[in-house]
Amino acid sequence: MTVIAIDGPSGSGKSTVAKAVAARLGLAYLDTGAMYRAAALWADQAGLLDQPEALPKLVQQMPLEISLDPADPTVRLAGRDVTGPIRTSRVSGIVSRLSTVVPARRVLVARQRAIVAANRRPGIVVEGRDITTVVAPEADVRLLITASEAARLRRRALDQRGQAGAEAIAATRDEVLRRDRDDSAVAQFLEPPPGVTVIDSSDLSVDQTVAAVLELVR
Ligand code: DC
Repeated sequence: MTVIAIDGPSGSGKSTVAKAVAARLGLAYLDTGAMYRAAALWADQAGLLDQPEALPKLVQQMPLEISLDPADPTVRLAGRDVTGPIRTSRVSGIVSRLSTVVPARRVLVARQRAIVAANRRPGIVVEGRDITTVVAPEADVRLLITASEAARLRRRALDQRGQAGAEAIAATRDEVLRRDRDDSAVAQFLEPPPGVTVIDSSDLSVDQTVAAVLELVR
């Protein structure tokens, strides 16, 4: 029975690490960012992203299926595979318009808590921005994975553009820094709350970061 809660900003490497930890320990894996992305795509397609008062109901009724398999974290909306579409720069650019609407967050948080409760056995790794504080503050292990701004920009540029030259970094800048600034207005994830362990991944490889997390879990 293990709940591992991981928060961190974009580009901190938390998704890669959370997935690897879940696979190593045979646990389920929940990417809550994917739920915010799916909700933003759903609202965008409905033309309702500019109507915050319509979002809670829309999100409540969203026909979302999210796989908890760390080896295959597929996301479906109304039966359609949106695993790729939720990662486009369009969705990255609009997702904060949904994730900063507090009543819409409440609906997603309730769905996330229900998933955690249903997967306490054998356990689950949950990652996002408010997991250690709001979604699963009672988790057995609570971590904040951070990285320097330079490291986060380099990783996102490599992820999204396949290169980390000056131009790719500049193009990534708004996406990473503006989004973290907007997001940090509603979820506190840049400084660790009491009881949360910080892992700075700036100078660590993925394997080293995974090893650090596994050590803490033990
Ligand atoms: O981790 P990510 O980049 O896939 O997250 C997508 C967006 O969702 C990001 O802008 C922050 C938001 N988010 C959030 O507000 N709370 C979470 N628990 C997870 C993500």
